[in-house]
Amino acid sequence: MAKASATIYVCQKCGNQSRKWLGKCPDCGEWNSFVEERARVAAKKEGARGAGGGGFRLREVEPVAYSAIESQDDTRVASGIEEFDRVLGGGIVPGSLILIGGDPGIGKSTLLLQVADKLSAGGSTVLYISGEESERQIKLRGERLSVEAENLYLLPETNLENIFHEIERMTPGTVIVDSIQTVFSGNIESAPGSVSQVREVAGQFLLLAKNRGIPVFLIGHVTKEGSIAGPKALEHIVDTVLYFEGERHHNHRIVRATKNRFGAANEVGVFEMTGTGLVAVANPSEVFLAERPKGASGSIVTACMEGTRPVLLEIQALVSGSKYGTGRRMAQGFDVNRLALLIAMMEKRLGFHLMGDDVFVNIAGGLEVDEPAADLGVVAAIASSFKNLPIDSHTAVFGEVGLTGEVRGALQAQTRAREAQSLGFKKIIMPASNTTGLERLLGLRVVGVRSVEEALDELF
Ligand code: TYD
Ligand code: MG
Repeated sequence: MAKASATIYVCQKCGNQSRKWLGKCPDCGEWNSFVEERARVAAKKEGARGAGGGGFRLREVEPVAYSAIESQDDTRVASGIEEFDRVLGGGIVPGSLILIGGDPGIGKSTLLLQVADKLSAGGSTVLYISGEESERQIKLRGERLSVEAENLYLLPETNLENIFHEIERMTPGTVIVDSIQTVFSGNIESAPGSVSQVREVAGQFLLLAKNRGIPVFLIGHVTKEGSIAGPKALEHIVDTVLYFEGERHHNHRIVRATKNRFGAANEVGVFEMTGTGLVAVANPSEVFLAERPKGASGSIVTACMEGTRPVLLEIQALVSGSKYGTGRRMAQGFDVNRLALLIAMMEKRLGFHLMGDDVFVNIAGGLEVDEPAADLGVVAAIASSFKNLPIDSHTAVFGEVGLTGEVRGALQAQTRAREAQSLGFKKIIMPASNTTGLERLLGLRVVGVRSVEEALDELF
């Protein structure tokens, strides 16, 4: 027998452990985050590695020659929802553990019920484990989504050992867990949703996925207070992490792969929440530009890359006199520190007096942009609002801006320019270093610039 249970204190934000209670976590700096937890009740018998000894014995493993391993890429399973497949890197990889995080009410259960429906229609048995809603509630939602799913089974259960018992019995083709925070293992004495529980449960599902080759989807709520262990604590365990972006008040839902062992990270899928569930948006640029005001100052279109796909977005800026001595800088969908830096550059290099002004920047449509190629758009939007001069609505820009006001090249310049062309833009202002090969884009005038000054001259 191994050691009996011992009390430990675990930070609910980062999972740091300590023998005694601490007011502040030395690792992540969070206050009051330590909660008393108990380690395993007792060591289990040898060989009984799975939950409740559910028979998931680790095989005896031997090294395998690299050349002898067969490539598996053709075994991906299409989920039947194209946007979802795109985020996953081209379909569901058998045996992968996929975490889907997002704020409560954003649409995680809806999306996975739709995925379950499509998979089930394809002949695969899907087990949907729900710790949050009863079968009737799920059925009610399913009716709105017109889910018919003959091979979909619902299991309202939260005990991990019981769940594994059931999986053992029915051997489903896909498992969906809604949500990881509600499932608990009897082998651990801490409350459901605590860091230890969530990790243990995820670890067991990982074993299941790998040993059986079943794809497992884990839904995880993102919580701000950190009282319930969020998906952050699991990111290193799972193969793929998908996050829902966008706000509940917007109709658009962006699903982004922040980590993917089987595909490009940062890939996005764009959906619209309708009365009958999530509907894939085929051309995101059109949607993001649909409500753009024409002839208003402070608005400009920029070409961004979201994963492998170009997306045109509207950047809005508002510069207004501050009531206080120093202006505030606020940004939605854009890094506020980056904004401060760009404003400082505009003051020093371009002679804009923004010190006493409030500057607000917003990426329309609820998307978050974190690539430097959006810099030029932000600078142009601020300049447009400051001068109160609108920018021609058929002009798009992109480019990274350096501290001396130089415009630097961006990745995938061709793809961006072509997207602008296909949406009927007449002019694109972009880094001069990127313009080679773009001289002949039909109907689109490509203007290469070396500095922000040149770009602003071209715009106004
Ligand atoms: P849900 O999938 O339950 O969110 P989560 O599982 O992430 O907590 O989504 C709930 C929201 O979606 C709710 O506010 C209602 C809305 N919704 C629709 O607008 N249309 C629909 O067809 C469905 C099923 C939900
Ligand atoms: Mg839900």
